[in-house]
Parts: sequence; C-alpha cells; structure tokens
Amino acid sequence: MKSGSPLTRRAEIIGWGMCVPKQVVTNEDLAQTLDTSDDWIRSRTGIAQRRIAGDHESSAQMAIEAARSALQVADANPREIDLIIVGTTTPDHTFPSTACQVQGALGAVRAGAFDLSAACSGFVYALATAHQAIASGEHDLVLVIGVDCLSRRLNWQDRSTCVLFGDGAGAVLLRAGEGPAGVLATVLGADGSGGDVLIIPAGGCAAPLTPEVLEQNLHTIHMNGQEVYRFATRVLPTATEQVTKKAGLALDEVDVIVPHQANLRIVEMASRRLKVPMERFVINIEEYGNTSAGSIPIALCEAIEQGRIAPGSNVVMVGFGAGLTWGAVAIKWSVPPEEAISPRYRNWWRWLLYRWASMRGGWLRTTRNATVWLIRRTTQRDRYPRNLD
Ligand code: UT7
Repeated sequence: MKSGSPLTRRAEIIGWGMCVPKQVVTNEDLAQTLDTSDDWIRSRTGIAQRRIAGDHESSAQMAIEAARSALQVADANPREIDLIIVGTTTPDHTFPSTACQVQGALGAVRAGAFDLSAACSGFVYALATAHQAIASGEHDLVLVIGVDCLSRRLNWQDRSTCVLFGDGAGAVLLRAGEGPAGVLATVLGADGSGGDVLIIPAGGCAAPLTPEVLEQNLHTIHMNGQEVYRFATRVLPTATEQVTKKAGLALDEVDVIVPHQANLRIVEMASRRLKVPMERFVINIEEYGNTSAGSIPIALCEAIEQGRIAPGSNVVMVGFGAGLTWGAVAIKWSVPPEEAISPRYRNWWRWLLYRWASMRGGWLRTTRNATVWLIRRTTQRDRYPRNLD
C-alpha cells in the first residue's frame, strides 16, 4: 500500500498532451468523391475538417506522441509510471495492446499496461479507472490515453458515417495528491441493448474477416445516426448533472464542460437542457471531427492552452459512444499551465531515455530470438540424432 489514506487520496492531472495526424481532409475534399457538401456537413454536425492518419501513422504512434508530451509537461520520469491505460477501439493489433506498445516506447519499465474498450467513452472510462487505482492506494502515477484511428474502419463510400470521424490522441498523467484538487467524482453507464445502433459488425471472432465480409463492408462502422443522436442528447445532460451533484457542486460552479465532440447540435441541446451557456463548453469539432476516444483529451489540451482552465477551476468531462456507453468525470484543476515548462536538459534526458527504450526493446527481442534458436537447435539435436547408424 502506498502512502496516504485511500480516503484522502485524489488523482491529480499533472501533465497533458495530444497528437493528431498531419493530413487535413476538408468537407470540400470529401465532396469531390461523395454525394455531400460542406453546407450539409457543417449545418448538421459543425464539422469543417478532420485529420486522417497516413501510412506511417497509427493509434500506437499517436498515443506515444501524446504520452511523451504529457510527460514533458509534468516533467515526469517514465520509469516511475505505475500503470498505463489506453482507451481505444482501434488498436494497432488485437494483441499486443496499444498500452504495451506505449509502455515499451516510453521505457516505463515499472508499469502495468492495458487497453480499455468503451468506444468514444474510452477516455472517460480510463480516467475513472485510473482514479480508482490511485484512490485505492494501489498506484501513485498513472498515464491515461484516449486514442482512435477510426479512419481505418470507415466505409469511404458511406456519406452518413465517413464525414463524421477523424483520428487523434490525447493523454493525461495523473499523480496521487492529498489536497482538495483532483478527481472529485465519476459516473459510468452502459446499455448493451443498444449495441446494434453503432457497431462494426465483422472483424471480431463472431464474424472473422472473409472476402464476403470485406465486399459487404461489414468490417466498417454501421450507425443508426438518429438513434445515437436521441441517446446522446439524453445521456450528455444527465451524466453531467449526476457527476456534478456527486462532486458536491452546483452546475453554476462548473467552470468548463469538455464534452465528447460528436456533433455540435448534441452539445447545443445539452446546453439548453442544462441551462448552461455554450461559452462554458469546449468545442473543437469544427477542426477535428469526431476522434472517438481521442476527442475529450484533445479538447481538454486545447482548453488548457487557451487559458480556459486555471488552478481552482471545476471541470466536467463527459462522453458517450458505442456499447452503448457513457460517462463523466468531475475534477478540480490544480496545475498552472505556465508552470508546465520542463527545463531543456530534462527534455534531453527524456529523449535519451526513449532512445534507450527503443534500443532495449530491440536488444531484448534479439536475445529472445537467439535463445529460442539455440534451444531449438539443442533439442532438435537430441531428438533427431544425426548419426542414425
Ligand atoms: O460518438 C458517437 C458517434 N455518433 C454520433 O454521435 C452520431 C449522432 N447522430 C448524428 O450526429 C446525426 O444523426 C447525423 C449527423 C449522423 C445525421 O444527421 P440527421 O439530421 O439525423 O440526418 P439524417 O440521418 O436524418 O439524414 C437526413 C438526410 C438523408 O436523406 P433523405 O433520406 O432525407 O433524402 C440522408 O441520406 O441527409 C442525408 N445525408 C446526407 N446528405 C449529404 C446523410 N448523410 C449525408 C451527407 N451529405 N454526408
């Protein structure tokens, strides 16, 4: 058990970072090949453009970049991280997990690592889990990442889905604290009966990939947009109210709400239902579209950069997505953004550590392969002696 009573320990965000792919795809770009228009997409969703991963970009690559930025902001040592949780439904591989790829790339040699699957609610679910890991006294330093690369699971001929999504990652580093700041309350919810309204039907073990599956595009996102819309406009305000109340706050005391960026109209509806002005919501959907598990931490990073979050701010992050799932986390902010500049030599030191982590990974793989080769040779020799006479 680590220091501090579980009753007084809180998970404080001490570092944050984001990463989006370089390639920008505008609504006009999509209208070149699809029966859609900038006007339709903007007026129905608020999206103007999105970032789409290129050949050398992936969920793991974006997660690693975002994590390194968060460590730099916190001026933290990756070797001290206890746990890495990655909220994603688009891992680079079924296994190894994206979290393990991040662990290896950071040289976080003491950390446990796992992916968490809750679609667009993935970051909020991961944050709530990290909070429990810290509050219980089990862990002190936890890295949480929300990342998705849904562009790889889109049918680019389906205008009702492909215009909505983009790729991206955001990360936060949480440390155990005993002051009034940190995670105040969490709310998580799920309704499995709605699994069919937002689904990737094939590619899992129920329907493995076959030529027929690929031809019918069953490995891509299928969505009943209106059902998801109805669900989202119900859970977004409800979860916000619930978490605020659980945190002992009134809605008036919430300075900033960071909602999942799926559709501007969903947030406007929530704003009306909660009677909270739109100015208190962070909106960046115009620039990135719906980046799924990446959307909330990316919006959080931008809000911090814009000076909208300061020490003492009460912040609510609230998300919803496939599953169906939803969740909210209320936090009291503690770190002044201007303090988040690590000395240059520490950045160099971290850079060296990442190079070392990459070399260590290569060395471990080589020695493992060499050992396997040697064992095989020895056992083969025993089993099949060359001199049969
Ligand atoms: O993280 C969670 C992810 N998902 C969501 O949050 C999605 C929630 N739902 C929504 O945001 C909205 O339902 C959409 C943006 C997906 C759709 O907006 P809508 O106002 O519900 O449109 P609709 O589905 O009722 O479609 C209206 C019309 C249809 O044409 P007809 O049948 O009226 O002739 C669609 O075929 O708009 C058509 N349409 C399009 N037209 C131009 C659908 N997509 C497009 C498009 N461009 N991209």
